[in-house]
Amino acid sequence: MEHVPSHVAIIMDGNGRWAKKQGKPRTYGHYKGSETIHDIAIAASDAGVKYLTCYAFSTENWIRPKEEVSYLMGLPAVFFERFLKDLMEKNIRVSLIGEMGRLPRDTQKVLQSAIDKTAGNTGMRLIFALNYGSRREIALAVKKIAEEGIPAEEITEDTIASHLMTDGIPDVDLLIRTSGEVRLSNFLLWQLAYAEMIFTDTLWPDFTKEELYNMFEKFANRHRRFGGVEK
Ligand code: IPE
Ligand code: IPE
Ligand code: MG
Repeated sequence: MEHVPSHVAIIMDGNGRWAKKQGKPRTYGHYKGSETIHDIAIAASDAGVKYLTCYAFSTENWIRPKEEVSYLMGLPAVFFERFLKDLMEKNIRVSLIGEMGRLPRDTQKVLQSAIDKTAGNTGMRLIFALNYGSRREIALAVKKIAEEGIPAEEITEDTIASHLMTDGIPDVDLLIRTSGEVRLSNFLLWQLAYAEMIFTDTLWPDFTKEELYNMFEKFANRHRRFGGVEK
């Protein structure tokens, strides 16, 4: 495949609606959605994607019913129990953005263990955004910059970028959102400044490798000008 986006970010939306369509509880949609994460991570890695950032839980998602939040907090354990082996085989390294501290202790342990076990992998970075909110991220970055006493005249765009949770990770090339919603929902506001965006009506549990690869083709045909003029 030519011109594969280096950093792909996905707002994995529509698990609840998918489950409702099957007459099942919302949590079943999340379970099926976690299988999609596995399939899409492998497909992205096979295609040569270097960074795949998946929005799994936002700072706003805490207001959902308690049972749903608690199911979602237990899902990383299920996911890594089933799929860590495959991630290792594909040399995929797991990372996290978001505030780990507010997650249940057990969830933190599971995540830390996946991060540690895959730390030596040199293939695609699979970055989970968990308890992540972009405004919160930016506020924390500003706070850190102030705490470090960096003088105002020395603050550049790089200063801000390097204090974000995505420090060291390049900007997003392609943003995908499933389920027909056309909004960012507080995801990577800074990092998406020049991303190409593709929205699909497909609900996340129905999203396939074929659709992903079609999007990569679409991406390859987009003209990214970054403010300049076409050559
Ligand atoms: C996305 O699916 C997963 C999370 C936000 C955790 P939703 O749970 O938002 O599904 P819908 O949007 O209600 O269908
Ligand atoms: C965004 O989806 C967050 C995740 C996919 C984790 P939501 O379903 O929470 O977004 P809104 O509420 O429709 O904007
Ligand atoms: Mg949703």
